[in-house]
Amino acid sequence: MFLRVLCILCIFSFVSLQYVPPYTEDCRTGMYPPSGPTFKGAVPWYTINLELPPNKRWTQIIADKKDAMISLAQAVRDLADAFVPSGRLEELVDKALPLMIDTLPYPFNEEIKGIATASGVPLGETLLLNIFYEVFTVCTSLVAEDPHGNLIHARNMDFGLFMGWDMKNHSWVITEKLKPLLVNVDFRRNNNTVFKSTNFAGYVGMLTGIQPHVFTLTMNERFSLDGGYIGILEWILGKRDGMWMSFLTRSVLENATSYAEAKKLLSDTKLLAPAYFILGGNRSGEACIITRSRTHNLNPLELAVKQGRWYVLETNYDHWKEPLFLDNRRTPAMKCMNQTTQANISIKTVYDVLSTKPVLNKLTAYTTLMEVSKGTLESYIRDCPSPCMPW
Ligand SMILES: *[C@@H]1O[C@H](CO)[C@@H](O)[C@H](O)[C@H]1NC(C)=O
Ligand SMILES: *[C@@H]1O[C@H](CO)[C@@H](O)[C@H](O)[C@H]1NC(C)=O
Ligand SMILES: *[C@@H]1O[C@H](CO)[C@@H](O)[C@H](O)[C@H]1NC(C)=O
Ligand SMILES: *[C@@H]1O[C@H](CO)[C@@H](O)[C@H](O)[C@H]1NC(C)=O
Ligand SMILES: *[C@@H]1O[C@H](CO)[C@@H](O)[C@H](O)[C@H]1NC(C)=O
Ligand SMILES: *[C@@H]1O[C@H](CO)[C@@H](O)[C@H](O)[C@H]1NC(C)=O
Repeated sequence: MFLRVLCILCIFSFVSLQYVPPYTEDCRTGMYPPSGPTFKGAVPWYTINLELPPNKRWTQIIADKKDAMISLAQAVRDLADAFVPSGRLEELVDKALPLMIDTLPYPFNEEIKGIATASGVPLGETLLLNIFYEVFTVCTSLVAEDPHGNLIHARNMDFGLFMGWDMKNHSWVITEKLKPLLVNVDFRRNNNTVFKSTNFAGYVGMLTGIQPHVFTLTMNERFSLDGGYIGILEWILGKRDGMWMSFLTRSVLENATSYAEAKKLLSDTKLLAPAYFILGGNRSGEACIITRSRTHNLNPLELAVKQGRWYVLETNYDHWKEPLFLDNRRTPAMKCMNQTTQANISIKTVYDVLSTKPVLNKLTAYTTLMEVSKGTLESYIRDCPSPCMPW
């Protein structure tokens, strides 16, 4: 039964790519500092002490975000009931998934248990939410080098296509439910920052983060048949030699000590499913797109400023292939980057690029801007009032 649900999830994420109509507008300018109808507030900051036992780390955040988490869990339950009426699915999630929690590596298993306890959301559902995030992210990430050799790494996080359309106000139910869960977290040891990230409260993996002055990292979903979600099915069936993608990014952010080490770990660690890792270092020329199959880094793309490649940009398609024409966010994003020129690239102009439809769209939950040399990460909750795709 759970397999069936997971298959439904997979089909949905493939189907989703085929229904996004093209929609472009002129490159935005003067959007920064964020304001106006596409800006719904700055993401609030929290600190997590990595010296605490893992099951206590998220307590403060969950205390604040409990209601939003319960509301999301309810929305996911409603969606599940729509697929498999009678509540049998919930029963299964609540009974079967908790048995798998300790097959997850430490500290993730303990952190998820702590989150379930603190929120009151049943353990199985908390685990399901963590799996959900791995499977449903559609995004745009880029790293650009300015004329002084500073690297700017930015991303839009798009999430929730086909997960319930709200007829009344034209929004995606899950995307809207995620916005109140957004938190920026400053992870500390001995009260010193180890890394900072933008997260959905309740999710222990990392999709966006910075180790100040060392590297920046984002992950995008890769919808690929080469490996596909078979690894996730295998994991459920008991074959557990691959790593969850966002657990790897978390480990890298927490424990890698250089761009080179981060690059190696992200390129060579066996994964449960394909993914794109977008990595920036702290020196001129240090940025790359790592296109992962479950086992390999395929056709790596590196920054090459001397050859004119002063930025790398990734949506959800292999860089050596054309994007699906119905979901082409790459061309509009590149058009705006090219129009900006390297001479004028900055946090400000990158925010303009990420504010241009369809790079900004109805699924966009947040925009994050990172500057490794300053050690900064800033995140903004986004909105895309109609007309805006998809729907
Ligand atoms: C749409 O309505 C839902 C529920 O009433 C609300 O949570 C959400 O924030 C609204 N979305 C927008 C974009 O106004
Ligand atoms: C931790 O560092 C912050 C500033 O970085 C400071 O405000 C705070 O007082 C420190 N806390 C402790 C317990 O030292
Ligand atoms: C990072 O390394 C420390 C020390 O080896 C370990 O305790 C911790 O679990 C690691 N963190 C992650 C997320 O793997
Ligand atoms: C870049 O990162 C390395 C560690 O990989 C560090 O030794 C170096 O000081 C950093 N450079 C700058 C300019 O922060
Ligand atoms: C942007 O510029 C790069 C490098 O000159 C070029 O390869 C690419 O086709 C351009 N893309 C767009 C959409 O203008
Ligand atoms: C860079 O920005 C400045 C001020 O915004 C503008 O005057 C100039 O034309 C821009 N340069 C390029 C090459 O776009």
